[in-house]
Amino acid sequence: MIACIFDLDGVIVDTARYHFLAWQKLAKELGINFSEADNERLKGVSRIESLNIILSLGGISLSYEEKEKLATRKNQWFVDYIMAMKPDEIFAGAKALFDDLHRHQIKVGLASSSKNARTVLAKLELEKYFDAIVDGTMIENSKPDPEIFLKAAKLLQANPDDCIVVEDAEAGVESALRAGMRCVGIGSTEQLGKANHVVDHIKKISYELLKNL
Ligand code: BG6
Ligand code: MG
Repeated sequence: MIACIFDLDGVIVDTARYHFLAWQKLAKELGINFSEADNERLKGVSRIESLNIILSLGGISLSYEEKEKLATRKNQWFVDYIMAMKPDEIFAGAKALFDDLHRHQIKVGLASSSKNARTVLAKLELEKYFDAIVDGTMIENSKPDPEIFLKAAKLLQANPDDCIVVEDAEAGVESALRAGMRCVGIGSTEQLGKANHVVDHIKKISYELLKNL
């Protein structure tokens, strides 16, 4: 292992919850039933693709302009949530893990499909922990496409098979495996069973665990 690449939303902080709440508010306005189980399909995918999934659940088709408007509305609600965040919302164990990896000369990267990733990192004072950051503004294809992790590996000057990814989304696990990397899932084995190892919280991940994957 040369590098470890982390997803952000739902891995380092519970912003996945904020995405869900903002989408749920929009779905309600549109008269669409949108459950937490439906939300699993949105994790890791881009804003506009997420909206397309919600609209398909409601059997609604809209013009590009109308979709842009709705996606912007959802994003404003999401931004309201993240602007109110404090560094104490970072999941327990995350910073200790980044420090532990650095102590063992492992590079630490971030690969988030979110265009708000840098704002979240700034709010949480987390930028300094990462040797490379790839966010939603830097990619053409969001997860499950492998582009984002391959880009992060390149910035970290690591071969894909020397990288381990930490992900909470099914689309993210698929993206990592398609990039030729090993992957630790954070969540349930039913959802993330394709990952090489699954835990229920970032605090369960250590250098020792990653090294032996
Ligand atoms: C991912 C989230 O990190 O970013 C998705 O898991 C989200 O739920 C995606 O849709 C895009 O985020 P944003 O902030 O660009 O709308
Ligand atoms: Mg995530």
